[in-house]
Amino acid sequence: MITGSTAGIGAAFARKLAADGHDLVLVARDTERLREQATELHDRHGIEAEVLAADLATDDGIEAVAARLGDRKNPVDLLVNNAGFGNKGLYLEVPLADELRMLKVHCEAVLRLTSAAAGAMRERGRGGIVNVASVAAFVPRGSYGASKAWVVQFTQGAARDLAGSGVRLMALAPGFVRTEFHQRAGMGTDGIPNWMWLDADKLVAAALTDLARGKTLSIPDPRYKALMGAAKLVPRGLLGGISSRTGRKYGPR
Ligand SMILES: NC(=O)c1ccc[n+]([C@@H]2O[C@H](COP(=O)([O-])OP(=O)(O)OC[C@H]3O[C@@H](n4cnc5c(N)ncnc54)[C@H](OP(=O)(O)O)[C@@H]3O)[C@@H](O)[C@H]2O)c1
Repeated sequence: MITGSTAGIGAAFARKLAADGHDLVLVARDTERLREQATELHDRHGIEAEVLAADLATDDGIEAVAARLGDRKNPVDLLVNNAGFGNKGLYLEVPLADELRMLKVHCEAVLRLTSAAAGAMRERGRGGIVNVASVAAFVPRGSYGASKAWVVQFTQGAARDLAGSGVRLMALAPGFVRTEFHQRAGMGTDGIPNWMWLDADKLVAAALTDLARGKTLSIPDPRYKALMGAAKLVPRGLLGGISSRTGRKYGPR
């Protein structure tokens, strides 16, 4: 199951897993787009793709997806909690309701879906969960970075608690990836240098290799591994000055 499967990183997970012959459960809000994606993946790879339209910013949406994860007759072997977004603006420019919506999708939905999946997986003694965070988790970067820091800490803590159960949990921390993310958030990307952009398909391949190796945190690509290593050595004040500015230019409201 992939949440946020219809665009960007989620779509890259769907392509890769379908190409490897896995049946899929596709989750996002746009039903029409989900149906088109399911048909295309079925036609191209001969797999069955189930469509589950749900808004993970709502209790009903989270409950519907959690119920599917808890279906013991039709088990899910791998959950990718990928759905996410950025809000347009710096702290206090973003309405509080939008901040809370982000926490609901990035944190509450991830906690509830991970719990539904991990419970069923532990009974079977196997399964994998990838929670998509961001390198923003490791640097000062608004409430977006804070929500992704929660994803990393939660996932690595849960992975430790479930060690030996057969259930693998891994946080995935991508750098900048060209997807619909920045446009949806109204972020200008001109200030982000070319070398900082990652390819979604390569990112997913690296993430799945890391999951197979049993890692609990995946930072694909040597550029970002080096950057995150360097970030630990830079004074926090200087780091915050750089990280909270990079790629955070917003268009008109
Ligand atoms: N792109 C980057 O540079 C980058 C870097 C680091 C981390 N990430 C993280 O990677 C993940 C995927 O981002 P992306 O860049 O691939 O974004 P994207 O291209 O904008 O795709 C977002 C996907 O999530 C779905 N979605 C959004 N809100 C949802 C909701 N409330 N309920 C259910 N589905 C929802 C969207 O479909 P619908 O609109 O139809 O719901 C879409 O399928 C996010 O968690 C993001 O924070 C991205």
